[in-house]
Amino acid sequence: MKPAATAHQVKVWDMPVRLFHWLLLGLVGFSWWSGDAGDDHMVWHSWSGYAILTLLLFRIGWGFIGSDTARFVSFVRGPGASFVYLRSVFKRQPKAYLGHNPLGGWMIMALLAVLLIQVVTGLLGSDDSDYEAPLAHLLSHDTSSFITTLHAYNFDLLLILVGLHVAAVLTHLVMRRDDMLKAMFTGVKTSLTGESAGRMVPAWRALLVLTVVALGVYALVTLA
Ligand code: HEM
Repeated sequence: MKPAATAHQVKVWDMPVRLFHWLLLGLVGFSWWSGDAGDDHMVWHSWSGYAILTLLLFRIGWGFIGSDTARFVSFVRGPGASFVYLRSVFKRQPKAYLGHNPLGGWMIMALLAVLLIQVVTGLLGSDDSDYEAPLAHLLSHDTSSFITTLHAYNFDLLLILVGLHVAAVLTHLVMRRDDMLKAMFTGVKTSLTGESAGRMVPAWRALLVLTVVALGVYALVTLA
């Protein structure tokens, strides 16, 4: 007979979401390093940015046609639901969610938006170094330099959001013994009620989305 605990192990994150997350973390770290390492590393920095753009566009597509927990409709909730959740956090009785909770959902949207701004400003910006971003020629020199300044400030904002994101995950881990971090590796979470997290979509669909967006990004940076 199976142990009772396994009866409540439910799949919450599909493989594409987990790969997206950890690749994103690695690439953001690599971009940080290569962006600071001098002009010689700008080619690496730009390829890392293209890879991040590919991941982001993939995740946006997956937010519409991916597994139920990955879909925006499942975790982007209105102000009412977010406020109710926030109140429950202050009362120290937050409702447990298998996917993203309402506040976590808004943090995910903020991270995706700031990351998108980061790659778009990277594509359009230029400073007075030898490196020229692929879309910088579409703008005047002054506008492009201004966008490079935005690129730098937006990165600081990204670091703040990532700091809050990691702090929230660690708080769940320490205060509530929540296994959300483990779930980002294994895809599986413990459900106290035994409810399902919804439908998981086959990975080939993710490969299809990834191929389309990768070709789109390649075309953008080589043909523009
Ligand atoms: C550059 C750094 C990071 C970025 C940009 C980032 C971004 C994200 C994004 C976009 C998601 C949503 C996943 C999805 O629905 O596709 C997410 C979820 C998550 N991240 Fe991160 N993350 C970063 C670092 C970390 C680190 C260092 C940890 C570990 C401490 C972590 C733990 C998690 C966990 C546990 C979730 C799932 C949250 C939940 O269950 O609602 N992240 N992250």
